[in-house]
Amino acid sequence: MHLGDFLRDELRLTGTHLGCEHGVCGACTVLVNGQPTRSCITFAVACEGQEVTTIEGYDDDAVMQRLRPAFTRHHALQCGFCTPGMLTTARDIVLRLPHADEARVRLELSGNLCRCTGYQGIVDAILDVLQQQRDTPDAPVENLRQTLSLPRTMALGPVTTPSQAQPPARSPAKPPTADPVTAAEMAEVDPVAMAKAKAKGNAIEVHFDVPYPADQVWEFMGDLPAVASCLPGATIDSHEGERVKGTIAIKFGPMSAAFAGAARLERDDVARRAVLRGAGQDSLSKSRTQGDITYRLEALSAGSTRVHVDMIYALQGPLAQFSRSGLVKDFVRRMVADFGKQITRRLGGQTVASNEPQPTVSVAGMMWSVLWNRIRGWFGKPPQL
Ligand code: FES
Ligand code: FES
Repeated sequence: MHLGDFLRDELRLTGTHLGCEHGVCGACTVLVNGQPTRSCITFAVACEGQEVTTIEGYDDDAVMQRLRPAFTRHHALQCGFCTPGMLTTARDIVLRLPHADEARVRLELSGNLCRCTGYQGIVDAILDVLQQQRDTPDAPVENLRQTLSLPRTMALGPVTTPSQAQPPARSPAKPPTADPVTAAEMAEVDPVAMAKAKAKGNAIEVHFDVPYPADQVWEFMGDLPAVASCLPGATIDSHEGERVKGTIAIKFGPMSAAFAGAARLERDDVARRAVLRGAGQDSLSKSRTQGDITYRLEALSAGSTRVHVDMIYALQGPLAQFSRSGLVKDFVRRMVADFGKQITRRLGGQTVASNEPQPTVSVAGMMWSVLWNRIRGWFGKPPQL
């Protein structure tokens, strides 16, 4: 039994909410020995003898005494479903990062998804409490900060929060950089990581149909800038033969990520099969991704083609929390479906105007869509892509 179920069903502490039960949404976050912990991916039995604090246990907590009114003042909640987990993460930010600015607060909140309020009020409430503590320091809050800075000895297996997740070690010769071009040049696909990603099940197979002959589709898909223009949020920075450098923008809950990277296309014209190998990193969150996208064309008829897409991906860093669930697969499936629609549009002669904004994919918005499709599926209706 996981800790979230134990708290709710056995102890009747129903203030802890369960959303995804995959460690993605952060709704179930509680403190275990003072550390924010996903209760849905923590075994209850692993917490025996540990100190677990839920939203019901904060009445005497000095940080919560400032956070709760700040959340009210800044209208930081609507339905309140995410609020217990949000407050737990907010408390951790206030204690651990006294000088956090807005960007840092948003980064730290990236593991908590709110579907109805928007994040501005939540971010403002946390910044407000940080400022209060700088202007009029509260001794109990300072004491809690001192306690937190002492070495922590307890470990609870594979439970991490975005704030605890560290970017992988890099060689001194290639330090992290915010320069997208340099970041793109650093990007290399590691075959070992790809093999591990495949073994872990980070693979997606999907297809879409295009109402045009296979030859025409194949020709179009060799034009990398044209293909990139069909991918939501993608922009090309440079293009040379089969190599391309660019950026793909994705919105993950409260945080925007822009993965700058490089990719290489290997084409087999006879089999009408190609592999796009690419890697990139987001300079703000220091998350890194790499993947192989294989696509293969199947002529369904003289004027219709099926494009099969197989993707293997690895994600590291704070955003890796999204790779733990089926959410990322649903997310990629929808991206590929949008990609197919754009290709059909482009093959039909429609162009993307230079001033047309690139679409951005919102995971939070998509979660609702994914859930809705699943509910439709339970009642026998085909999912809408
Ligand atoms: S319910 Fe635990 S992270 Fe979503
Ligand atoms: S206030 Fe409704 S989910 Fe956040």
